[in-house]
This record gives sequence, C-alpha cells and structure tokens, in this order.
Amino acid sequence: MAHKQMPPVDADQAPEPAVSVRGVGKAYGPFRALQGVDIDFPRGQLTTLLGPSGCGKTTTLKIVAGLIPATEGEIFVGGRKVSGPGPERAFVFQDFALMPWATVLRNVAFGLELRGAPRKEREDIARHHIAEVGLAGSEQKYPHQLSGGMRQRVGLARALAVDADILLMDEPFASVDEQNRRKFQEDLLRLLAQEKKTVIFVTHSIEEAVYISDQIVILTRNPGRVSRIIRPDIDRSGDFDELRRSKAYLDTVDEIWNELRDYLEE
Ligand SMILES: Nc1ncnc2c1ncn2[C@@H]1O[C@H](COP(=O)(O)OP(=O)(O)O)[C@@H](O)[C@H]1O
Ligand SMILES: [Mg+2]
Repeated sequence: MAHKQMPPVDADQAPEPAVSVRGVGKAYGPFRALQGVDIDFPRGQLTTLLGPSGCGKTTTLKIVAGLIPATEGEIFVGGRKVSGPGPERAFVFQDFALMPWATVLRNVAFGLELRGAPRKEREDIARHHIAEVGLAGSEQKYPHQLSGGMRQRVGLARALAVDADILLMDEPFASVDEQNRRKFQEDLLRLLAQEKKTVIFVTHSIEEAVYISDQIVILTRNPGRVSRIIRPDIDRSGDFDELRRSKAYLDTVDEIWNELRDYLEE
C-alpha cells in the first residue's frame, strides 16, 4: 500500500507547537509499533490521537512523556529537543497510579512534596485543584473510597497541581459509563478554558475525539503511522444534542469513519 502524504501544516491557523514529534519510529524487538510519525501539537490546544487498538497511541504518548525512548526520530518541547521526562509534561495515567495508602489531599500534593514545597503551600495548592475538578469535600478520603471517575479526577488534579503546561491523557474516560463520560468531557473542556493547557489526549472513540478536539490525529496500524490530521471546526457553545446534529459535527465524524472503516470493520 502506498504511503499517504501528510497534509501540509497550515502555519496561519496553527499556533506555535508546544510539542513536535519528528520522524519517530518505535520497534519492540522485531515488531515495528510506529513508523515515520510527524505531529505538531499546537500550544494551548487539545489534540487527540485516535485510532484502532494497537495503532501505537499509548506508545506515542509514552515517548512524548519521555517514559520510553523512540527507536528513531526526535521530540521537541517548546522547540528544545528532549530525551526524557520533564516537569512541563504530566502524564495522567489510564489506571492512575494513585497511592492507595494516602488521602486524596496527599495524592494531589505529592508532586509538590517531591519538589520540596512546604506543607501549607502544597496543601493550599492541592485543595484549589481538588475543588477545580469537582472533588471538594473528598480531601480526606482514600482512593478505594472513590469511584473510577473520581479517581480519574484525582489524577487530573495531581497533574494540574504540579503546574505542567502539557497534559498527557491516555483514554482517561475509558472505564466510565456513557452518561458520566459526557459530563467529564464537558468538565474537561470547561477546565481547559480556564487553565490554558496543551493536552494530548488518547481515545479510540470517534465521537469523543470530534467533541473535544481542536486537532485530531488519525493513526492506523501495522505499522502505526499518521493517516490524517483533521482540525474540526465545531461550535461548542450550544448543548450537546444541538452539536451532535450540526452539519460540521456529522461531516467530521463521517470523514473519520471513512478513513478508519477498513480497520473498524475487521
Ligand atoms: N512493551 C511492549 N512490548 C512489545 N510490544 C508492545 C509493547 N507495548 C506495545 N506493544 C505493541 O505495540 C503496538 C502498539 O501498542 P500501543 O501503543 O499500546 O497501542 P494502542 O495504545 O493504540 O492500543 C501493539 O501491537 C502492541 O501489542
Ligand atoms: Mg493504549
């Protein structure tokens, strides 16, 4: 199969990238998980990595986080080449690594504790972000006393507390039921409007991608590579039912569906 060309980046439309992935490939032993991946992640925008299971979404996210090395290619953060983790990037894990023996407050403050922030200061900051994600009143609870969705919010509050500019989120709403998922998506968008983060968000849901994204990177597998980059132009000012019936929304879902059809119908 011939390789498709990446569409040219529209320099007028896209702000300066917070993160650039250039020519990245990844091999796990003899298996090629990623090949020739080029992506710009515009500053202050939400980009989703969308594609079928096994196309290398998590691998791409971990490489950007600096948690695993690329086999080839380069990662630039704020224009500087990086080869490991950094405080400007925070990973919100899928099965969030919360400390089960610590309260919500301590879990959220933990990144600041590691940096040596005094107790009062880090707890004030943690309380602010716990409230921001809608968990005020749960500061003294332990992770096992929370639902999956609430634990996800604790993970997000922890990422916000260390004040990373770049949030990396791997299918954060995957284990949440449909109704709560919609609420979390709305909450996330509202939060991002205040916090101005660059977000790299992994999902395999077309609907979710179109609803939340400024930019959608469609990945296909064997080997994982970029098949297309779409910048949906969706008006999110109305309610969700309105949006879901709008032409821009339906056209974008259709466009992605056509791109991924071969993979989704396997
Ligand atoms: N540590 C690993 N060792 C070997 N193969 C791996 C490893 N991690 C991922 N893979 C393989 O690489 C491919 C991409 O995986 P992944 O990035 O997890 O995809 P996605 O998140 O899109 O489902 C899959 O085929 C997966 O089985
Ligand atoms: Mg994954």
